[in-house]
Amino acid sequence: MAHAACSFILNGGPGSLTLHDSACLHEVVLLSSVVALLKIARMGHPVLLARAEPVADPTTAVMRRLVSDMIETMDDAKGVGLAAPQIYQSLRLLVWRYPKENPAVVLFNPEIASYGNEEPFFEACLSIPGLKGEVHRPTRVSFTGLDASGAPVSGVTDDKFVARILQHENDHLNGVLYPTIMRDLSRFAYIDEYEEYLKLSPPADSSHVDGQSQPSAEPRT
Ligand code: NI
Repeated sequence: MAHAACSFILNGGPGSLTLHDSACLHEVVLLSSVVALLKIARMGHPVLLARAEPVADPTTAVMRRLVSDMIETMDDAKGVGLAAPQIYQSLRLLVWRYPKENPAVVLFNPEIASYGNEEPFFEACLSIPGLKGEVHRPTRVSFTGLDASGAPVSGVTDDKFVARILQHENDHLNGVLYPTIMRDLSRFAYIDEYEEYLKLSPPADSSHVDGQSQPSAEPRT
């Protein structure tokens, strides 16, 4: 009977719920509408050092739920990007949202090519809370992958900040954390000390990548 009631709720709307349906309602809500904030892995956990595995089918219920939870987690942390290894899932999946008014973008199994001149920029990472470091990266990327419906997508971005987000998140899929590609570790700092001593100019304040604060300024183009 309980399963019949669940089917009715799922297929026919809330209808005439009774107290007998409370357990089913709980189950249905969990499956359909509640998103969860996920714990974020921090530097030192091996999941952040592993090469993540491709996702065979982005359209499964498990993947849909994972994507929703990742977006919720990213937004709650005021990040602009999040890669699946950061929430302990060693999968080739990343999400980003920038500017914050834009829809979140989902990319499974990305292939990213970087080009253009390299520029230095202070990055932060949700897996390395409280710290920032200067990382040199190319200013343009092209990418291919699959969207949340499993359809192939591709694009090119000339936006330096989006290019940086994509490279930073793609690094997570390859087990790379930004301090390991810094050229000068004297440019690695606690954020408050960075604010006092290393911040170069107002545009450099838009230097978070997946970490802690949305950029306060538009990215330079
Ligand atoms: Ni990161």
